[in-house]
Amino acid sequence: MKIDLIAGARPNFVKLAPLVDAILQYRKQGCDLDYRIVHTGQHYDLEMSQSFFDELNIPKPDVNLDVRSGTQAEQTGAVMAGYEKLLTDEKPDLCVVFGDINSTMAAAITAKKMHLDVAHVEAGLRSGDLEMPEEVNRIVTDSISDLFFTTSRSASENLKGAGVDESRIFFVGNTMIDTLLKHQKSLRPPTDPKLRDLEPDSYLVLTMHRPKNVDDATLLASTLKTILVCCPDHKVVFPAHPRTAKALDKIGIEDSRLIASPPLGYLEFNYLVSQSAAVITDSGGITEETTRMGIPCLTLRDSTERPETVEIGTNELAGTRPETITPMLKKLVSGKWKKGAIPELWDGRAAERIVGHIVEFYGL
Ligand code: UD1
Repeated sequence: MKIDLIAGARPNFVKLAPLVDAILQYRKQGCDLDYRIVHTGQHYDLEMSQSFFDELNIPKPDVNLDVRSGTQAEQTGAVMAGYEKLLTDEKPDLCVVFGDINSTMAAAITAKKMHLDVAHVEAGLRSGDLEMPEEVNRIVTDSISDLFFTTSRSASENLKGAGVDESRIFFVGNTMIDTLLKHQKSLRPPTDPKLRDLEPDSYLVLTMHRPKNVDDATLLASTLKTILVCCPDHKVVFPAHPRTAKALDKIGIEDSRLIASPPLGYLEFNYLVSQSAAVITDSGGITEETTRMGIPCLTLRDSTERPETVEIGTNELAGTRPETITPMLKKLVSGKWKKGAIPELWDGRAAERIVGHIVEFYGL
């Protein structure tokens, strides 16, 4: 069986890495499995893409569609056109897509129209907020997938509620956590002199990239000021996504406690998180990593598609306005944050289960 693994942006690479390992393990045991890594090129900067392949030992992509940036429709259309051409030349038996980015949805639609089976890793997540492009991507991808691999029981329930046959839903755990656990011992301090000698617990890690939070420079400036005022005893380390860096340049905020840097590699970023007092973010994946590490986490959003990070883990939602963020920030640095527990099956073996189910489902 030939499997296409589709990846386009940072979080995809982290989810894909353990699947490659698991496929190779099964192959060693005599399973007839082969894979092709298709990088859509949605993320292309060295630190947004190549550094993840290097640090997580992911084999070089077999193909790069090189779609790069664009509007939602331009990016989606470019992935569809590029992947269709690739499939016309050489068609695998199964297309595996990850998460909720534009590349995920675009590749899933293209594969389905070429009569391929589609497997969705991290299926069934729903934030209920259709203003997020990712929510549209999740719903569309799940509406045409054939196999559904979920990170939580609630995601499996969402799929059942949408009419998906139970025999195609597999609760397997979280491949992002597989990667975290595999590399936990290799996490390393950043080489950037501004970040190298930070005392453990003396700082917060901040990440923001959602258009809603960063495209409006006034809102971004007010969020940063609120964080600095509410957390007077902590430095704020802010590795800025390219989208955010553009907005930061415009507002030109200066504060000796705010340490902005370019995006960091996986090993340095998670080292900083592991030693931090707490994390403030609008990412979904980071709320899962902090939950697994037991690090307090505040999410600058009104909703989450990952409710277990709040119900079981260390995450809380704070909204996006200064009025709602302020009391939560004070609580975050008060030392009285909840401890949290580890969600079911977030044990480092999700990818192994996924490949096991594929092997069994197709009788390989
Ligand atoms: C995408 C995903 C989001 C994911 C995030 C992780 C969608 C809709 N969003 O958001 O779910 O959480 O990746 O980072 O697919 N840019 C660069 N260099 C790069 C990549 C992007 O400069 O290597 C710039 C682009 O020019 C653009 C902006 O960053 O201005 C946004 O990139 P894009 O891929 O559209 O979406 P993300 O915000 O990264």
